[in-house]
Amino acid sequence: MAEEAVLGFLEKNEEISDSSQFASERGIDHQELTNVIKSLYGFRLVDAQDIKRERWVLTEEGRAYAAAGSPEVQVFLAIPPDGISLEELQKKMDPSIFKIGRSQAIKNQWVEMGKQLVMRKVQDVEDKVKDFLIRVEGGEVIDPKEADALKRRKLIAPQTWKGYSVRKGPNYAPKRKKYATDLTRDNLQRGDWKDLEFKEYNFSAKGQPIEGGHLHPLLKVRQQFKMIFLQMGFEEMPTNNFVESSFWNFDALFQPQQHPARDSHDTFFLQVPSTTKTLPEDYVERVKRVHESGGYGSRGYDYVWKREEANKNLLRTHTTAVSSRMLYLLAQEGFAPKRYFSIDRVFRNEAVDRTHLAEFHQIEGLVCDRGLTLGDLIGVFNDFFGRLGMSKLKFKPAYNPYTEPSMEIFGYHEGLNKWVEIGNSGMFRPEMLLPMGLPEDVRVIAWGLSLERPTMILYGIDNIRDLFGHKVDLSLIKKNPICRIGIE
Ligand code: PHE
Repeated sequence: MAEEAVLGFLEKNEEISDSSQFASERGIDHQELTNVIKSLYGFRLVDAQDIKRERWVLTEEGRAYAAAGSPEVQVFLAIPPDGISLEELQKKMDPSIFKIGRSQAIKNQWVEMGKQLVMRKVQDVEDKVKDFLIRVEGGEVIDPKEADALKRRKLIAPQTWKGYSVRKGPNYAPKRKKYATDLTRDNLQRGDWKDLEFKEYNFSAKGQPIEGGHLHPLLKVRQQFKMIFLQMGFEEMPTNNFVESSFWNFDALFQPQQHPARDSHDTFFLQVPSTTKTLPEDYVERVKRVHESGGYGSRGYDYVWKREEANKNLLRTHTTAVSSRMLYLLAQEGFAPKRYFSIDRVFRNEAVDRTHLAEFHQIEGLVCDRGLTLGDLIGVFNDFFGRLGMSKLKFKPAYNPYTEPSMEIFGYHEGLNKWVEIGNSGMFRPEMLLPMGLPEDVRVIAWGLSLERPTMILYGIDNIRDLFGHKVDLSLIKKNPICRIGIE
């Protein structure tokens, strides 16, 4: 109806100069008219120009006085011709009306506050405030001085009103044509397709957001690390067992059985099944011997090694357990130089805080070949971390039971402008490699780092619980950007 009114009016007239007047003359809701104008404007059937108008509207208080009269007049009228005691007057009236009305009435010199009685000073009063309020309410423009006085009493407030003036647009037609959006079977059968006008395609419309799976930031960063390893000729190790025996996790790595990491405070041991079923017996024997009394030029740890301790199942505390299995296998198959990597989950019985969880992902790399040196280890790091965009590295001597020498790796983070610890590394000890059956001149350089740390740095997350676990915000998973490290 509103649409017909607008288009019909413009057929004979130049312009609708004011949408609000147009609406009120025809009993159309102005909001509805505004929507129609916007829609017609969208199709260029009309041209529309904004009209902005400041106008006054009544406040809640103003509306009350427009109905019941101003407080000063209410007070005046409550005083009988021969006066009234202040107390009586007060009793008759609403306290806030009395308070405002009394002071206004005194100011207007309408009343006299005598010692005993409150008296009228004039016979009649005119409620100008009420009259002005009613005029404002009716949309009339009043004298700016009066408006200002009402505004100061907070009885009216300014409001910006928006409307339109409307003229014919370039596509004007007295009636809006309905465009067909689909060509149907019926159109074809009836033959009316010949006369149909089709709606144009909107090629700049946004598509529906695609619903589907989303990769977690850890998976994105993992993929980039994987690509770096693959580019450097590394093979992935099979890490598909979270449960490991103490033997592969610790003993094979020459980690003594009384080492604090082997305590239940640091490691999760399994109750069911609590022990491993099989271990390679001859190799177990050689591991036992190297722990107890050494060999291969080592003195060993000089303690009684217990098989029961080695049999205990646990959640692997590092993927170095996988490396030890792989190196043992390699020795059995006949040694060949190898580059291995893995990226998978490990578990530690740690107090949970903003940077630690009881589980995380470990990135592990190792290179084994004859005659490798510490220089090779540093060279591999320069290559590996250089591909991550970290070309300044520092090393600090460290200790691991299974490596000698051992080094902590620090990298200068150009974004954070500081040195950050990025990993732990070393050359596996002969006490670990020789019982496996690897040739004497084979050296293995290896390193490990967490996947969470670079992911948190890359995605600007400072609490690990926002990255992993049940508190993760799913929209983070949906919206996080792709990861671009390591792509040259
Ligand atoms: N296993 C070590 C850790 O968990 C990492 C490491 C791997 C250190 C290989 C040296 C050699 O921190």
